[in-house]
Amino acid sequence: MKKMMKKVVVILSMAMLVCGLAACGGDSAKNSDTITFGTNAEFPPFEFVASNGVIGQYDGIDMSIAKQIAEKNGMTAEIENMEFDSLLIALENGQIDAVIAGMTVTDERKEEADFSTPYYEATQVMIVKEDSDIKKASDMAGKRICVIQGYTGETCVNDMGYSYEAFKKGTEAVMELVNGKCDVVVIDSATAKKYVSDNEGLKIVEDPAAFEGEQYAIAVKKGNTELLDKINKVIEEMLADGTISDLAVKYSEAE
Ligand code: ARG
Repeated sequence: MKKMMKKVVVILSMAMLVCGLAACGGDSAKNSDTITFGTNAEFPPFEFVASNGVIGQYDGIDMSIAKQIAEKNGMTAEIENMEFDSLLIALENGQIDAVIAGMTVTDERKEEADFSTPYYEATQVMIVKEDSDIKKASDMAGKRICVIQGYTGETCVNDMGYSYEAFKKGTEAVMELVNGKCDVVVIDSATAKKYVSDNEGLKIVEDPAAFEGEQYAIAVKKGNTELLDKINKVIEEMLADGTISDLAVKYSEAE
């Protein structure tokens, strides 16, 4: 009898432990000790797939930032990799807790999500063949322009009134350029540098007068101030102590 009691107690306490760990009873599908970050790991040096990344197979500046945000809050970072266009929808649905994807803060996106303190300054640039006669944005008139679907580069080119072809991935657009099927790819500066160093015969053309500065920030669901505060605290620390600029240097130099 005594033995059986003991067994019951053990089973009960085990169930309670499991329940506690899995945060039973909450309506959230996710563990309370995990931050699930959505990204689109097609954007080096911010996020890309690597055999040995900082979070599983995911590596890059953003992935390192995500990891530190979670760890400094005593939590674990998990990554959900998806199409860039799906990120804000997944955030709205509760499939992910936050978006970290080199995502530029725009007025349009601010209607859909709340953004953290910006952590990186970027701009759109043009990638062209080394012998290209494109020297400024207006030289794109009449050229075959490639952009990436849903990126701010697409919005820029669209606002300039040029027609373009949109690709799902930066690498696909760059391949079109390399193969001579397009004349210019408009994409974010740091990613452009990566593609130019990975492919022969390409160069970057900047036109700061035509492309406004952009700021990358992390997005959370509208009104999720609890998570936003946790994120901002760590971002501000990482900006102040130079961690983010160190990461930017490290990942931009890495082959
Ligand atoms: N900064 C651009 C934007 O916000 C491109 C971001 C692409 N990021 C990615 N992880 N694929 O639209």
